[in-house]
Amino acid sequence: MLEQLDQIESQALTDLKTVQDEDNLQRWKVAHLGRNSPLMKAFDGLGSLSKEERPAVGRRANEVKRTLESALESRSGELRQAAILRALESERLDVTLPGRAPLHGRLHPATQTLREIYRVFGEMGFQVYRSREVETDEYNFQLLNFPPNHPARDMQDSFYVDSGAPRGDNPILLRTHTSPGQIHAMREYVAMNPDNPPPVRIILPGMCFRYEQITARSEMQFNQVEGLAVGPNITLGDLKGTLSDFARRMFGQQVRSRFRASHFPFTEPSAEMDIECFVCGGQGCPVCKRTGWLEILGCGMVHPLVLSNGGYDPERYSGFAFGMGPERITMLRHRIEDIRYFWSNDLRFLEQF
Ligand code: PHE
Repeated sequence: MLEQLDQIESQALTDLKTVQDEDNLQRWKVAHLGRNSPLMKAFDGLGSLSKEERPAVGRRANEVKRTLESALESRSGELRQAAILRALESERLDVTLPGRAPLHGRLHPATQTLREIYRVFGEMGFQVYRSREVETDEYNFQLLNFPPNHPARDMQDSFYVDSGAPRGDNPILLRTHTSPGQIHAMREYVAMNPDNPPPVRIILPGMCFRYEQITARSEMQFNQVEGLAVGPNITLGDLKGTLSDFARRMFGQQVRSRFRASHFPFTEPSAEMDIECFVCGGQGCPVCKRTGWLEILGCGMVHPLVLSNGGYDPERYSGFAFGMGPERITMLRHRIEDIRYFWSNDLRFLEQF
């Protein structure tokens, strides 16, 4: 009987060595410690043994049971340990690897210039007014004193929007300049207080579109920043003072500016403003084409007809307006020689700013 227990023990311990996972460990437990295991049968058989044999066999059977139970315990621990090691191996994380540098986005060069323009005019008390990009012929041209067939329209070939309806005499188009926003803004201000409309001090930034051959110097889409000041007693002196101050705040305190007579249907008188070339300081260089001056905007006193189209009585109010191209200014500042870079989304260009 004792020999049999020795054999049960050694058989079970040998089997246990081959157990590699939890499932087989459970199976081993049933086979060697379960109700029908040889060991339990040996316990059952104790009753049929002689009085002399029984104590020694019983003691030995209990001993084998404890041995198997503790072997089970330690094998189970080993398996758990091995599982953890395997997980560590496969889920290993090397914390010494250098991190991935986050990609920093940045503002588009045109946006950078736009924001500087906002800053300068903001300091002078101008608010940003956003106007629509899709316009009617009426707002884009007629209310700005471009009658149908006016030759000044030739400068602003338009993209018409096909709405399905016949075009008629007020077709829908993509705005060719930000000036139609002048009318929208004035009308909104007048609606606030029709008898005594408040003074206007706004800039109107945004995309404009012209049906043009795309070249190094002209794009079919570009930003403009319009400016509009309307109120009692606004003079040409205010226009010159405001814009010269803008030039100094934007390009440097020493920068001089000059005004040349020009023509726009919606301003009278009209002018173009040049600033002293900031590349050569007015000496003459390739950027200013050896003239010492850079043209940066168009401007003028708001035409009486435009004032009254906006709802402001030209007998009581006057105003000035201006329009500039931030991409043009950005090109001058960074000596970018091709305007097509702005909207071609080439990172090699954009990442330089
Ligand atoms: N709208 C004009 C243009 O696109 C610029 C301008 C604006 C001129 C306001 C005078 C006053 O060329």
